[in-house]
Parts: sequence; C-alpha cells; structure tokens
Amino acid sequence: MSLNYVVQPGGTLRGTLRVPGDKSISHRSVLLGSLAHGETRVSGFLEGEDTRATAAAMRAMGVIIEADGAGALRIVGRGLRGLSAPNTSLDLGNSGTGMRLLAGVLAGQPFRSRVFGDASLNSRPMRRIADPLRRMGAQFETTDTGTPPLDIGPAEALSGIRYEMPVASAQVKSCLLLAGLYADGETVVVEPGLCRDHTERMLNGFGYPVTREGNCVSLRGGGQLQAGEVEVPADISSAAFFLVAASIAPGSDLTLTGVGVNPTRDGVIQILKLMGADIELLNRCERSYEPVADIRVRYAPLRGIRIPEELVANAIDEFPALFVAAACATGETRLTGAGELRVKESDRIGAMATGLQALGADAEATPDGMVVRGRELRGGTVRSFGDHRIAMALSMAGLKAAGRVIVEDCANVQTSFPSFAATSAAVGVRIAEQRS
Ligand code: S3P
Repeated sequence: MSLNYVVQPGGTLRGTLRVPGDKSISHRSVLLGSLAHGETRVSGFLEGEDTRATAAAMRAMGVIIEADGAGALRIVGRGLRGLSAPNTSLDLGNSGTGMRLLAGVLAGQPFRSRVFGDASLNSRPMRRIADPLRRMGAQFETTDTGTPPLDIGPAEALSGIRYEMPVASAQVKSCLLLAGLYADGETVVVEPGLCRDHTERMLNGFGYPVTREGNCVSLRGGGQLQAGEVEVPADISSAAFFLVAASIAPGSDLTLTGVGVNPTRDGVIQILKLMGADIELLNRCERSYEPVADIRVRYAPLRGIRIPEELVANAIDEFPALFVAAACATGETRLTGAGELRVKESDRIGAMATGLQALGADAEATPDGMVVRGRELRGGTVRSFGDHRIAMALSMAGLKAAGRVIVEDCANVQTSFPSFAATSAAVGVRIAEQRS
C-alpha cells in the first residue's frame, strides 16, 4: 500500500505547534546513554523509524532501553566496554546517521558485527568513514563500491589519528570521535567548514572532555561517560517545512515552540531571512547543552538570493524546503557548493528539480546545487523518490500552487516526522493522506 499526500491550494498557517524531537540529538542520546555508566533519562526523543532503528541496534547488544512511545526513554548504560556481540546483523533501515555513528562505536568493539540498511542506505557512500577508521586500525569492510553492508571488527587496538575531512560532515566527525573513545592517544578531526556539533556537546554533557581549537575537534581515548539527562529539543529540520510554509502562505502567523537553534544548524533561518522572511526568535534558553527558542514566523514576500556557501553545511537538510521557498520568491535563487545533497536519502538536487518542474517551476539542477527562478506554480502529481524531506517539501509547495498537488510515495516520512500530515492540517495546511 502506498501513501500519498493530497494538498489543496490556499491554506494559511496560524497558531502554535511543537514539531517532534531532533533526529540528530535523539540518535546521539541513545548511543551515549548506552555507553555511559548509570541510567540516562531522555525526554522529547524522536519516535521515528530512524531513531528507533538505532535503539534496536543498541538493544541487540544488550542495552536495556525502555521507551514509553511518547518520547521518554530510560537507558541503562553498560559502559564503553560493556556491549555484547549481537546475534544477528544490525538493520539501520533508512538511517545514514544511525549507521555512520554506530560504525564508530562498533569499530572499537572486541567482537565482529555486520550492519546493513534499506535500498537507499545500502547505496550510500561509506568510504568516507571506512578510510579513516582503517587508519585508526579498525577492521572495516564495505562492498567493492564502498557501500553497506559493513563488516566491522573485531578490534585489536585502535590508535588516535589526525584526520582532515575532505567534506564538512558531522556524521564522519562523530563516527571518528566515537571510535576515538576506544583509541590510544588523541583523535583530532579537522573540519573544512563548521558542521553540527551535537556529539561534542553531548559528550561534554556526559562528562567526557572534548576540545575545540579553531576548526580542530579532539578527544583522548580511555575515559568514561557518566549517565545524564537529555532533553531533546524540537527538530529545526522538521520546523523548516513550517518556516517555509508560513513564509509563502499569505496571512500566516505561526509559532514553533522549543526548537533547537544550535548555531551549527540555523542556516535555514539565516537563508530565509536573507530572502526577506519575517522570523523572530523568542524565549531563548539552554537545554542539555543545546540552545533552544520559540520561533515566530509570519508571511512575507520572499526574494531570490545567491545562497552563501558558508551556510550550506548548516542548512544541509533544509534545502528541499528552501527550494520551495525559492520557487515562490521573486527573482533568481542560486545554490552552489552543495554536491552532498546528491548522496542523501535520495539525490535531493535531482528529486527537487524534477518535482518543482512538474509543478511548473523554473528550476534547473546543477552538479552541486540549483538555480530557481520564481513564478506561478500549477497543480500536479509529483514523486518523493522515497525520501521524507522531498515528500514534506513538495507538499508545502501545494500551498501556493494553482491546483491540487499530489505527492506520491510518502511512507518514508515515518523516519523523521510520523505525525506530519496531521500536524500540518492542525495549523491550516489543507493536506490529507490518501492510501492506494
Ligand atoms: C547528521 C549530519 C548530516 C545530516 C544528517 C544528520 C548528523 O549529514 O545531513 O541528516 O546527525 O550528524 P552529514 O554530516 O554527512 O552531511
């Protein structure tokens, strides 16, 4: 059975809403809670397929994780050396973050493990972690094309390395820092551009010193993590669909509460503001070492811009939504330096260009970005390419299309935002789910 979204034009977004917990921070809470000494309590955990896959993998290695199904977890940590060998291969589903971060942990274990995913994940590049992990001394096999399944370990001795990442990737950085917990000496990761720092913040929160000097992040192996409390903020990547939707739908005035506004993740706000969006951050505070705020967004006419390349890593997951903003803006928007979008859950440049063109937009894919010129959108049927963020972004385009927009193949939204359609409808998007 396939799930489609059907969006009628003309909605206005009003009211207050809290989107689900941050996916990146949820994954990390399960991993670090499992490796800590003592009991970790998590609140606001994202109950999505991706983060549940990470929890299932840790349970398969003997960690007790109790979940109430509404975002509260109790994790009984086993310490860095307390995991047991899993009886089966570990299925990370659609989750690149789950797989790459877990691989860092598995690289340090005294047992052998095998990790795989769905068709999308099994075609994603893993040499980016395989190469540096092998340099640290890990046993690490991919397929001949550098994709999963991954065969990892058993580890003998890992040694810390200094690694200059060729692309700004928080997944690679986090993978190496987690492997570094098991390594002799210092592991240093050099970032070509600042990418999300949730792992470093949470490690520090769990009492494990991580230092940053300029663009170098480092830690020393051999320490211990102490269990703690993690309050997961609402996910700015999920909030992004509503920031764009309210910006393009006349009459909108929406407040998103408790959103993580870590400066390594707020590129979407900065880019929308450069386009003329009316976005205000209220009630700023800090929760579990992460900055949080309520975000008020009101309708405002948007204009096209050249997106500064230094903001790309900080908005990497928000480009599907931002392309919709660009299609509804006056003038030309140009994105460059974002070739990484081609190796996400789908080729997000190709998928969004195809979808927007089907709706009548002037969108031209380039090898590392897109050129979009704003004009009237028409209704139509578009595909999500089995990618949650493409599904959600294209459904928001329906707000501004002249006719009905049908987005096909939306089941993958379960990975990051299971209540997306109901939540959107509650604040004024004229969206319905259709199963066929
Ligand atoms: C993530 C990092 C990003 C992002 C992904 C989540 C993370 O990937 O696209 O959705 O939680 O570390 P890269 O760091 O590989 O760009």
